Amino acid sequence: MIEKVKAACAFLRERIPSSPESAVILGSGLGFFADSLEGRTVISYEEIPNWPLSTAPGHGGRLVYGRLGDRDVLVMQGRVHYYEGYPMEQVVFPVRVLGEFGVKNLVITNASGGVDTALSPGDIVLLEDHINFMGANPLRGPDTPGWNDRFPDMTRCYDEEFTAAFEAAAAAEGVPVRRGVYFAFSGPSFETPAEIRMARTLGATVVGMSTVPEAITANAMGLRVCALSCVANAAAGMTMNTLTGQEVLDEMAKTSEKLIRLLNRFFKEMR
Ligand code: HPA
Repeated sequence: MIEKVKAACAFLRERIPSSPESAVILGSGLGFFADSLEGRTVISYEEIPNWPLSTAPGHGGRLVYGRLGDRDVLVMQGRVHYYEGYPMEQVVFPVRVLGEFGVKNLVITNASGGVDTALSPGDIVLLEDHINFMGANPLRGPDTPGWNDRFPDMTRCYDEEFTAAFEAAAAAEGVPVRRGVYFAFSGPSFETPAEIRMARTLGATVVGMSTVPEAITANAMGLRVCALSCVANAAAGMTMNTLTGQEVLDEMAKTSEKLIRLLNRFFKEMR
């Protein structure tokens, strides 16, 4: 795998003129943020050697490099999920490449279901922790010396300073945010009401089908990670509604404007 990562990295070095310290992964229906970068270089995922291609609706397939304020940023417009059938090492391949490319800071975004009864669609939750209920860990497999510890600490997976910086950005933008715990199911079926009650009992604030593999891998590689979860719907059993993927995308289209403002301010004020 490390050779495949190095090949992707070598390709990106030819196309990208600098070595950005920060990267963003955009979740379902949140792709518009990449349009706010200046001086963009757009690379289709198909061009990058070994890069997994997303089959999920609402996920573009482009890596966008550009400037935000005076900072260079790499933005992943679209990701692959475990539920698409990719093995975990493929799901986190892009994170491996970003780390190898020299990225130090990773902002992960996602769409989620609200488990906490106080949440409504459109709310934004900054992850302070997660519960990995996917039944798989992206670091499973032969140990690759030099890549990450065999047993990486997960006590501070989500960087406190970045999370506080997002809170400050949110206050300045007048966007309410709160902190919470993300509970990851593998999907692709939505959860049952009983599963949501279980998740709530176990301390979940939101549920989703992404982010955790990426956060584990980035944390293990020594990147500073923070994650913003955009609540698309009340989780299963909390309303009379049936859940659809389309509803998630429609809600995200509405939330993306707020999220873009937060990301812009965060990067412009980042020290
Ligand atoms: N469950 C899991 N993933 C999701 C949901 C949900 O309710 N909404 C958006 N992504």
